[in-house]
Amino acid sequence: MAEQRKLRVGMVGGGGPANFFGAPHRRAILMDNSAELTAGALRSDPQGSLEAARELFFTRGYPDYQTMFREEGNLPAQERIDYVTIVTPNDSHYPIAKAALETGIAVLCEKPLTITLDESLDLVRLARQTNLPFTVAYSYTGLPMVMLARELVRQEEVGNIRKVEAWYPQGWLAGRTEDEGVQQAQWRVDPSRAGASGCGGDIGTHAYEFIRFVAGLSAVQVQARLHTFAPGRRLDDDFTVLARLSNDGIATIAASQVTIGAQNDNGFRVIGDKGTVEWTMLDHMSLRLFKSGQPVQIFRLGAEYGYFPASIAPYLRLPSGHPEGFHEALANLHKTIQLQIRRRNGEHVPEPFPHPDVIDGAAGMAFIEAAVRSSENDGAWTDVQPVE
Ligand SMILES: NC(=O)c1ccc[n+]([C@@H]2O[C@H](COP(=O)([O-])OP(=O)(O)OC[C@H]3O[C@@H](n4cnc5c(N)ncnc54)[C@H](O)[C@@H]3O)[C@@H](O)[C@H]2O)c1
Repeated sequence: MAEQRKLRVGMVGGGGPANFFGAPHRRAILMDNSAELTAGALRSDPQGSLEAARELFFTRGYPDYQTMFREEGNLPAQERIDYVTIVTPNDSHYPIAKAALETGIAVLCEKPLTITLDESLDLVRLARQTNLPFTVAYSYTGLPMVMLARELVRQEEVGNIRKVEAWYPQGWLAGRTEDEGVQQAQWRVDPSRAGASGCGGDIGTHAYEFIRFVAGLSAVQVQARLHTFAPGRRLDDDFTVLARLSNDGIATIAASQVTIGAQNDNGFRVIGDKGTVEWTMLDHMSLRLFKSGQPVQIFRLGAEYGYFPASIAPYLRLPSGHPEGFHEALANLHKTIQLQIRRRNGEHVPEPFPHPDVIDGAAGMAFIEAAVRSSENDGAWTDVQPVE
């Protein structure tokens, strides 16, 4: 049995003062002291990239990802990074993930996986060919109560699923935020950088992943209405989809970036013939299970509670009442890819939770592409390409 060691993590994107999601990933990587920030190509300009790696105490800084993978690939295995975290705008996920896999490096990539389904399918092919771990950062699936919801559904607590409601409203793009110098808004409303759907790719894809991850179902056909409310914006800022599910059930997926007042309050309701399981980010430490004629059961987060299955127990960190959430959820996705890598290295570690992988990322793209086509055809029923 191999001895446990700290894993070495690379990061592409996530540098610079205006950056959003690099910092949460760095905190998540460091949370359990199980990994270190080893190699970084953190910004799109070479000088800025080197400076950011220095400022953020990465062991090795690189001017760009191409140099990073070339040089890391030439290092002996005991020095090379074990996996790379990709936190760049959507259009660069594909070339960066492809370069990582071709160098033999595992990938944790931000969502949406790519900007086209073809790119995603090529990553599925490459990940299979190289047999490397590949996690897609649908961050809410790292929350223990969302993981528990998946387990309750698998234990048939809600019975046969009839319907899933999934939602994700935000309000930050209600006006033309892209004209106010907000970096995150600028690339998110540009189809060449964000992909064919703005709101759908950014947050509709999180809502859709609840259907796959929690309910274990996928959309086979969709009717969609993608709408742009902000004047002159080139991509949708509102995304409404009705779906036929793989078990003949129904789903609604509603995402919006113009819901003034909404605070990332995404969530889901999985409705079966025996009961309903319900969760919302605004009360993310609770999970509700309703059964006909019975009082509501409210599960609360807390590492000491005996009702968490063994599959989730290694992912809990705090006793009940102490809040753990956003950063811990991301840390849990890093934990999953780290456990996968450790197992491949022959370390004796718990089984990783089946968090979203490259197939789920590609399925998310298939859903988005079908929704875009449906909306272009005035909401016609449109097949979703199956991804297996
Ligand atoms: N899972 C989630 O909940 C969640 C939340 C926020 C963002 N995201 C995803 O994270 C990604 C980044 O989003 P953000 O809001 O942090 O964007 P951002 O604009 O804040 O940051 C993007 C960073 O990427 C860098 N960059 C761009 N091209 C690069 C390249 N070729 N090489 C190296 N660095 C490069 C930029 O310099 C910048 O530091 C997006 O794909 C987004 O969808 C996911």
